[in-house]
Amino acid sequence: RWNVNKYVDKNKKYPQIEEAAQWLRRGEVIAFPTETVYGLGADATSDEAVEKIFAAKGRPSDNPLIVHISSKEQLTQLVTGITEEAEKLMERFWPGPLTIIFPKKQGVFSKKVTAGLETVGIRMPSHPVALQIISASGLPIAAPSANRSGKPSPTTADHVMEDLNGRIAGLVDGGETGVGVESTVVDCSVTPPMVLRPGGVTMEEIRACIGQVEVDASLQHEAQAPRSPGMKYTHYAPQAPLYVTSGSIRWMQNTIRFYQQQGKKVGVLATSETTRELKADLLVTCGSATDLSTVAHFLYQSIRSFDHHDIDLILAESYEPRGMGAAIMNRLEKAAGHKWLKEGQEPVVE
Ligand code: TXA
Ligand code: MG
Repeated sequence: RWNVNKYVDKNKKYPQIEEAAQWLRRGEVIAFPTETVYGLGADATSDEAVEKIFAAKGRPSDNPLIVHISSKEQLTQLVTGITEEAEKLMERFWPGPLTIIFPKKQGVFSKKVTAGLETVGIRMPSHPVALQIISASGLPIAAPSANRSGKPSPTTADHVMEDLNGRIAGLVDGGETGVGVESTVVDCSVTPPMVLRPGGVTMEEIRACIGQVEVDASLQHEAQAPRSPGMKYTHYAPQAPLYVTSGSIRWMQNTIRFYQQQGKKVGVLATSETTRELKADLLVTCGSATDLSTVAHFLYQSIRSFDHHDIDLILAESYEPRGMGAAIMNRLEKAAGHKWLKEGQEPVVE
Protein backbone atom coordinates (compact mmCIF):
# COMPACT_ATOMS: atom_id res chain seq x y z
CA ARG A 1 0.00 0.00 0.00
CA TRP A 2 1.45 3.31 -1.09
CA ASN A 3 0.33 6.70 0.16
CA VAL A 4 0.28 9.72 -2.15
CA ASN A 5 -1.23 13.10 -1.64
CA LYS A 6 -3.80 13.92 -4.28
CA TYR A 7 -2.14 17.28 -4.83
CA VAL A 8 0.80 15.72 -6.66
CA ASP A 9 2.85 18.05 -8.79
CA LYS A 10 2.62 16.87 -12.38
CA ASN A 11 6.16 17.96 -13.12
CA LYS A 12 7.65 15.81 -10.37
CA LYS A 13 8.28 12.08 -10.15
CA TYR A 14 7.05 10.15 -7.13
CA PRO A 15 8.71 6.85 -6.19
CA GLN A 16 5.38 5.37 -5.04
CA ILE A 17 3.78 6.11 -8.38
CA GLU A 18 6.79 4.81 -10.33
CA GLU A 19 6.62 1.60 -8.35
CA ALA A 20 2.88 1.16 -8.90
CA ALA A 21 3.40 1.77 -12.64
CA GLN A 22 6.15 -0.85 -12.69
CA TRP A 23 3.75 -3.44 -11.25
CA LEU A 24 1.29 -2.55 -14.00
CA ARG A 25 3.99 -3.04 -16.63
CA ARG A 26 4.71 -6.46 -15.09
CA GLY A 27 1.08 -7.45 -15.67
CA GLU A 28 -0.16 -7.09 -12.10
CA VAL A 29 -3.37 -5.42 -10.84
CA ILE A 30 -3.15 -2.22 -8.81
CA ALA A 31 -5.97 -0.18 -7.23
CA PHE A 32 -5.69 3.60 -7.52
CA PRO A 33 -7.88 6.66 -6.94
CA THR A 34 -9.73 8.48 -9.70
CA GLU A 35 -11.95 11.54 -9.29
CA THR A 36 -15.06 9.28 -9.41
CA VAL A 37 -14.28 6.08 -7.48
CA TYR A 38 -11.21 3.87 -6.92
CA GLY A 39 -10.27 1.84 -9.99
CA LEU A 40 -8.64 -1.59 -10.26
CA GLY A 41 -6.11 -1.19 -13.05
CA ALA A 42 -4.24 -3.58 -15.32
CA ASP A 43 -2.53 -3.54 -18.73
CA ALA A 44 -5.44 -3.40 -21.23
CA THR A 45 -3.32 -5.08 -23.92
CA SER A 46 -2.56 -8.22 -21.90
CA ASP A 47 -4.98 -11.15 -21.53
CA GLU A 48 -3.29 -12.42 -18.38
CA ALA A 49 -3.30 -9.01 -16.72
CA VAL A 50 -6.96 -8.33 -17.54
CA GLU A 51 -7.93 -11.84 -16.42
CA LYS A 52 -6.58 -10.91 -12.97
CA ILE A 53 -9.06 -8.01 -12.74
CA PHE A 54 -12.03 -10.30 -13.41
CA ALA A 55 -10.67 -12.84 -10.90
CA ALA A 56 -10.05 -10.27 -8.15
CA LYS A 57 -13.49 -8.71 -8.55
CA GLY A 58 -15.44 -11.90 -9.20
CA ARG A 59 -16.82 -10.06 -12.23
CA PRO A 60 -18.81 -11.80 -14.99
CA SER A 61 -16.65 -11.94 -18.12
CA ASP A 62 -19.38 -10.61 -20.45
CA ASN A 63 -19.08 -7.19 -18.80
CA PRO A 64 -16.48 -5.04 -20.65
CA LEU A 65 -14.02 -2.75 -18.86
CA ILE A 66 -13.31 0.95 -19.34
CA VAL A 67 -9.83 1.73 -20.66
CA HIS A 68 -8.08 4.72 -19.05
CA ILE A 69 -5.64 6.98 -20.84
CA SER A 70 -3.60 10.00 -19.77
CA SER A 71 -3.29 11.94 -23.03
CA LYS A 72 -5.29 12.64 -26.14
CA GLU A 73 -2.39 11.33 -28.29
CA GLN A 74 -2.89 7.84 -26.88
CA LEU A 75 -6.43 7.77 -28.26
CA THR A 76 -5.58 7.59 -31.97
CA GLN A 77 -3.61 4.36 -31.40
CA LEU A 78 -6.60 2.73 -29.73
CA VAL A 79 -9.78 3.62 -31.61
CA THR A 80 -11.17 4.50 -35.05
CA GLY A 81 -14.11 6.64 -36.10
CA ILE A 82 -13.76 9.66 -33.81
CA THR A 83 -16.92 11.63 -34.59
CA GLU A 84 -17.44 15.38 -34.33
CA GLU A 85 -19.66 14.83 -31.27
CA ALA A 86 -16.93 12.76 -29.62
CA GLU A 87 -14.42 15.54 -30.32
CA LYS A 88 -16.71 18.09 -28.68
CA LEU A 89 -17.30 15.90 -25.65
CA MET A 90 -13.58 15.26 -25.17
CA GLU A 91 -12.77 18.93 -25.57
CA ARG A 92 -15.34 19.89 -22.95
CA PHE A 93 -15.18 17.03 -20.40
CA TRP A 94 -11.71 15.42 -20.60
CA PRO A 95 -9.96 14.94 -18.37
CA GLY A 96 -13.03 14.14 -16.26
CA PRO A 97 -15.88 11.77 -15.39
CA LEU A 98 -16.95 10.91 -18.94
CA THR A 99 -16.39 7.59 -20.74
CA ILE A 100 -16.82 7.53 -24.52
CA ILE A 101 -17.51 4.33 -26.49
CA PHE A 102 -15.62 4.18 -29.81
CA PRO A 103 -15.15 1.52 -32.50
CA LYS A 104 -11.96 -0.23 -31.37
CA LYS A 105 -8.76 -0.66 -33.40
CA GLN A 106 -8.06 -4.32 -34.13
CA GLY A 107 -5.21 -6.12 -32.44
CA VAL A 108 -4.63 -3.61 -29.65
CA PHE A 109 -6.74 -4.69 -26.69
CA SER A 110 -7.06 -7.96 -24.92
CA LYS A 111 -10.40 -9.47 -26.01
CA LYS A 112 -11.24 -9.76 -22.33
CA VAL A 113 -11.35 -5.95 -21.98
CA THR A 114 -14.07 -5.52 -24.56
CA ALA A 115 -15.85 -8.80 -23.75
CA GLY A 116 -15.75 -9.62 -27.46
CA LEU A 117 -17.46 -6.36 -28.56
CA GLU A 118 -16.22 -4.32 -31.54
CA THR A 119 -16.31 -1.16 -29.41
CA VAL A 120 -14.28 0.04 -26.42
CA GLY A 121 -15.03 2.54 -23.66
CA ILE A 122 -12.26 5.12 -23.11
CA ARG A 123 -11.89 7.62 -20.31
CA MET A 124 -9.26 10.20 -19.35
CA PRO A 125 -9.63 10.70 -15.59
CA SER A 126 -8.85 14.08 -14.03
CA HIS A 127 -7.40 12.76 -10.76
CA PRO A 128 -3.71 13.79 -10.79
CA VAL A 129 -2.61 10.50 -9.20
CA ALA A 130 -4.53 8.43 -11.77
CA LEU A 131 -3.08 10.49 -14.62
CA GLN A 132 0.46 10.05 -13.32
CA ILE A 133 0.11 6.30 -12.84
CA ILE A 134 -1.28 5.80 -16.35
CA SER A 135 1.33 8.03 -17.90
CA ALA A 136 4.21 6.40 -15.97
CA SER A 137 3.02 2.93 -17.05
CA GLY A 138 3.04 3.97 -20.71
CA LEU A 139 0.03 1.69 -21.24
CA PRO A 140 -3.71 1.94 -21.77
CA ILE A 141 -5.07 0.84 -18.39
CA ALA A 142 -8.26 -1.21 -18.08
CA ALA A 143 -9.91 -0.24 -14.81
CA PRO A 144 -13.32 -1.10 -13.44
CA SER A 145 -14.30 0.11 -9.99
CA ALA A 146 -12.13 -1.56 -7.31
CA ASN A 147 -14.94 -3.37 -5.46
CA ARG A 148 -16.01 -7.00 -5.36
CA SER A 149 -18.66 -7.43 -8.04
CA GLY A 150 -22.10 -6.40 -6.75
CA LYS A 151 -20.81 -4.21 -3.90
CA PRO A 152 -20.93 -0.40 -3.84
CA SER A 153 -17.94 1.17 -5.61
CA PRO A 154 -15.09 2.22 -3.30
CA THR A 155 -14.56 5.90 -2.58
CA THR A 156 -11.74 5.37 -0.06
CA ALA A 157 -8.67 3.11 0.08
CA ASP A 158 -10.19 1.38 3.13
CA HIS A 159 -13.21 0.33 1.06
CA VAL A 160 -10.84 -1.23 -1.48
CA MET A 161 -9.11 -3.15 1.32
CA GLU A 162 -12.49 -4.25 2.72
CA ASP A 163 -13.29 -5.92 -0.60
CA LEU A 164 -9.99 -6.87 -2.22
CA ASN A 165 -7.37 -7.35 0.51
CA GLY A 166 -5.16 -10.26 -0.52
CA ARG A 167 -6.55 -10.33 -4.07
CA ILE A 168 -4.51 -7.50 -5.62
CA ALA A 169 -0.81 -6.68 -5.97
CA GLY A 170 -1.06 -3.16 -4.54
CA LEU A 171 -3.13 -0.13 -3.62
CA VAL A 172 -2.30 3.53 -4.07
CA ASP A 173 -4.04 5.49 -1.31
CA GLY A 174 -4.80 9.01 -2.52
CA GLY A 175 -7.52 9.80 0.03
CA GLU A 176 -11.24 10.10 -0.57
CA THR A 177 -12.45 10.42 -4.16
CA GLY A 178 -14.40 13.54 -5.17
CA VAL A 179 -17.40 12.92 -7.41
CA GLY A 180 -18.37 9.70 -5.63
CA VAL A 181 -20.31 8.02 -8.48
CA GLU A 182 -18.82 6.55 -11.65
CA SER A 183 -18.31 8.30 -14.97
CA THR A 184 -21.14 8.93 -17.42
CA VAL A 185 -20.92 6.49 -20.35
CA VAL A 186 -21.80 7.90 -23.79
CA ASP A 187 -21.78 5.66 -26.87
CA CYS A 188 -20.38 7.69 -29.77
CA SER A 189 -20.19 4.67 -32.09
CA VAL A 190 -23.89 5.24 -32.87
CA THR A 191 -25.72 8.27 -34.32
CA PRO A 192 -27.02 10.17 -32.48
CA PRO A 193 -24.82 9.39 -29.46
CA MET A 194 -26.50 7.45 -26.67
CA VAL A 195 -26.06 7.75 -22.91
CA LEU A 196 -25.67 4.24 -21.51
CA ARG A 197 -24.95 5.13 -17.87
CA PRO A 198 -25.71 8.38 -16.03
CA GLY A 199 -22.74 9.56 -13.95
CA GLY A 200 -20.46 12.42 -12.97
CA VAL A 201 -21.26 14.50 -16.06
CA THR A 202 -24.99 15.30 -16.17
CA MET A 203 -27.37 14.75 -19.11
CA GLU A 204 -28.02 18.48 -19.13
CA GLU A 205 -24.29 19.19 -19.57
CA ILE A 206 -24.03 16.63 -22.37
CA ARG A 207 -27.05 18.09 -24.18
CA ALA A 208 -25.62 21.59 -23.80
CA CYS A 209 -22.40 20.35 -25.42
CA ILE A 210 -23.63 18.25 -28.38
CA GLY A 211 -27.38 18.83 -28.62
CA GLN A 212 -29.34 15.71 -29.48
CA VAL A 213 -28.55 12.55 -27.50
CA GLU A 214 -30.53 9.39 -26.96
CA VAL A 215 -30.85 7.66 -23.63
CA ASP A 216 -30.64 3.88 -23.37
CA ALA A 217 -34.25 2.73 -22.94
CA SER A 218 -33.31 0.47 -20.03
CA LEU A 219 -32.50 3.58 -17.99
CA GLN A 220 -36.12 4.68 -18.33
CA HIS A 221 -37.97 1.35 -18.32
CA GLU A 222 -36.67 -1.38 -16.16
CA ALA A 223 -37.98 -4.11 -18.49
CA GLN A 224 -35.61 -3.23 -21.36
CA ALA A 225 -32.31 -5.07 -21.61
CA PRO A 226 -29.53 -2.49 -21.23
CA ARG A 227 -27.00 -1.91 -24.00
CA SER A 228 -24.24 -1.44 -21.48
CA PRO A 229 -23.65 -5.01 -20.32
CA GLY A 230 -22.68 -3.91 -16.80
CA MET A 231 -26.00 -2.21 -16.23
CA LYS A 232 -27.94 -5.46 -16.02
CA TYR A 233 -26.35 -6.82 -12.86
CA THR A 234 -27.47 -6.23 -9.29
CA HIS A 235 -25.11 -3.66 -7.96
CA TYR A 236 -24.22 -1.51 -5.02
CA ALA A 237 -26.43 -3.57 -2.70
CA PRO A 238 -25.97 -3.47 1.08
CA GLN A 239 -26.61 -6.67 3.06
CA ALA A 240 -29.98 -5.53 4.47
CA PRO A 241 -32.87 -5.04 2.02
CA LEU A 242 -33.08 -1.45 0.86
CA TYR A 243 -36.22 0.35 -0.29
CA VAL A 244 -36.32 3.63 -2.18
CA THR A 245 -39.10 5.72 -0.67
CA SER A 246 -41.33 8.51 -1.81
CA GLY A 247 -43.60 10.33 0.60
CA SER A 248 -43.87 13.01 3.27
CA ILE A 249 -41.71 13.10 6.42
CA ARG A 250 -44.77 12.09 8.45
CA TRP A 251 -45.42 9.07 6.28
CA MET A 252 -41.73 8.16 6.48
CA GLN A 253 -41.79 8.30 10.30
CA ASN A 254 -44.96 6.18 10.38
CA THR A 255 -43.35 3.67 8.04
CA ILE A 256 -40.28 3.44 10.27
CA ARG A 257 -42.57 2.80 13.26
CA PHE A 258 -44.57 0.22 11.32
CA TYR A 259 -41.43 -1.85 10.69
CA GLN A 260 -40.09 -1.33 14.20
CA GLN A 261 -43.36 -2.68 15.60
CA GLN A 262 -42.69 -5.84 13.61
CA GLY A 263 -39.44 -6.20 15.54
CA LYS A 264 -37.21 -4.86 12.77
CA LYS A 265 -34.26 -2.53 13.22
CA VAL A 266 -34.75 0.23 10.67
CA GLY A 267 -32.01 2.33 9.06
CA VAL A 268 -32.57 5.50 7.06
CA LEU A 269 -30.41 6.91 4.27
CA ALA A 270 -31.28 10.55 3.59
CA THR A 271 -30.02 14.11 3.37
CA SER A 272 -29.25 16.13 6.50
CA GLU A 273 -32.49 18.09 5.99
CA THR A 274 -34.47 14.84 6.29
CA THR A 275 -32.53 12.90 8.93
CA ARG A 276 -32.84 15.75 11.40
CA GLU A 277 -36.65 15.35 11.24
CA LEU A 278 -36.68 11.57 11.81
CA LYS A 279 -36.12 8.95 14.52
CA ALA A 280 -34.93 5.47 13.54
CA ASP A 281 -32.52 2.78 14.75
CA LEU A 282 -29.81 4.21 12.51
CA LEU A 283 -29.84 7.50 10.61
CA VAL A 284 -27.18 7.84 7.91
CA THR A 285 -26.84 11.36 6.58
CA CYS A 286 -25.83 11.52 2.94
CA GLY A 287 -25.07 15.12 1.94
CA SER A 288 -27.49 17.99 1.66
CA ALA A 289 -30.60 18.41 -0.50
CA THR A 290 -29.36 21.89 -1.39
CA ASP A 291 -26.50 20.38 -3.44
CA LEU A 292 -26.94 16.89 -4.91
CA SER A 293 -23.23 16.61 -5.71
CA THR A 294 -22.73 16.22 -1.93
CA VAL A 295 -25.22 13.31 -1.97
CA ALA A 296 -23.30 11.68 -4.85
CA HIS A 297 -20.05 12.19 -2.94
CA PHE A 298 -21.30 10.37 0.19
CA LEU A 299 -23.65 7.86 -1.48
CA TYR A 300 -21.50 4.71 -1.64
CA GLN A 301 -19.81 5.17 1.72
CA SER A 302 -23.27 5.72 3.25
CA ILE A 303 -24.64 2.54 1.68
CA ARG A 304 -21.57 0.61 2.83
CA SER A 305 -21.90 1.92 6.39
CA PHE A 306 -25.14 -0.05 6.97
CA ASP A 307 -23.17 -3.30 6.71
CA HIS A 308 -21.29 -2.34 9.87
CA HIS A 309 -24.51 -2.13 11.90
CA ASP A 310 -27.18 -4.58 12.94
CA ILE A 311 -29.99 -3.32 10.69
CA ASP A 312 -32.83 -5.38 9.17
CA LEU A 313 -34.18 -2.89 6.65
CA ILE A 314 -33.05 0.35 5.03
CA LEU A 315 -35.32 3.15 3.82
CA ALA A 316 -33.68 5.55 1.38
CA GLU A 317 -34.91 8.98 0.42
CA SER A 318 -35.45 9.49 -3.34
CA TYR A 319 -34.39 12.43 -5.55
CA GLU A 320 -35.64 14.18 -8.66
CA PRO A 321 -33.76 12.54 -11.56
CA ARG A 322 -32.37 15.88 -12.76
CA GLY A 323 -28.71 16.94 -12.76
CA MET A 324 -26.70 14.68 -10.43
CA GLY A 325 -30.06 13.28 -9.25
CA ALA A 326 -30.15 11.04 -12.35
CA ALA A 327 -26.95 9.17 -11.44
CA ILE A 328 -27.91 9.03 -7.76
CA MET A 329 -31.34 7.54 -8.51
CA ASN A 330 -29.84 5.05 -10.99
CA ARG A 331 -27.47 3.72 -8.28
CA LEU A 332 -30.08 3.81 -5.49
CA GLU A 333 -32.62 1.86 -7.55
CA LYS A 334 -29.99 -0.77 -8.29
CA ALA A 335 -28.99 -0.98 -4.64
CA ALA A 336 -32.68 -1.48 -3.88
CA GLY A 337 -33.15 -4.05 -6.63
CA HIS A 338 -35.85 -1.60 -7.83
CA LYS A 339 -37.91 -2.02 -4.66
CA TRP A 340 -39.98 1.06 -3.80
CA LEU A 341 -42.21 2.10 -0.90
CA LYS A 342 -44.61 4.90 -1.75
CA GLU A 343 -47.00 6.91 0.35
CA GLY A 344 -50.55 5.71 -0.24
CA GLN A 345 -49.47 2.12 -0.95
CA GLU A 346 -49.52 -0.80 1.52
CA PRO A 347 -46.11 -1.24 3.20
CA VAL A 348 -44.29 -4.35 2.04
CA VAL A 349 -43.83 -6.99 4.73
CA GLU A 350 -40.63 -9.02 4.26
O1 TXA B 1 -15.84 6.23 -13.09
C1 TXA B 1 -15.62 5.16 -13.69
O2 TXA B 1 -15.98 4.99 -14.86
C2 TXA B 1 -14.88 4.05 -12.94
C3 TXA B 1 -13.47 4.55 -12.63
C4 TXA B 1 -12.61 3.49 -12.00
O3 TXA B 1 -12.88 5.08 -13.79
N1 TXA B 1 -14.86 2.84 -13.70
C5 TXA B 1 -15.97 2.08 -13.87
O4 TXA B 1 -15.77 0.93 -14.59
O5 TXA B 1 -17.06 2.37 -13.41
P1 TXA B 1 -16.77 -0.31 -14.56
O6 TXA B 1 -16.05 -1.39 -15.27
O7 TXA B 1 -17.19 -0.59 -13.16
O8 TXA B 1 -17.97 0.13 -15.45
C6 TXA B 1 -17.89 0.10 -16.86
C7 TXA B 1 -19.25 0.32 -17.47
C8 TXA B 1 -20.08 -0.96 -17.40
O9 TXA B 1 -21.44 -0.63 -17.21
C9 TXA B 1 -19.83 -1.57 -18.79
O10 TXA B 1 -20.83 -2.46 -19.19
C10 TXA B 1 -19.76 -0.30 -19.65
O11 TXA B 1 -19.09 0.64 -18.85
N2 TXA B 1 -18.98 -0.54 -20.88
C11 TXA B 1 -17.64 -0.70 -21.00
N3 TXA B 1 -17.30 -0.90 -22.28
C12 TXA B 1 -18.44 -0.86 -23.01
C13 TXA B 1 -18.76 -1.00 -24.40
N4 TXA B 1 -17.81 -1.24 -25.31
N5 TXA B 1 -20.06 -0.88 -24.76
C14 TXA B 1 -21.02 -0.63 -23.86
N6 TXA B 1 -20.78 -0.49 -22.52
C15 TXA B 1 -19.52 -0.61 -22.11
MG1 MG C 1 -18.35 -0.96 -11.19
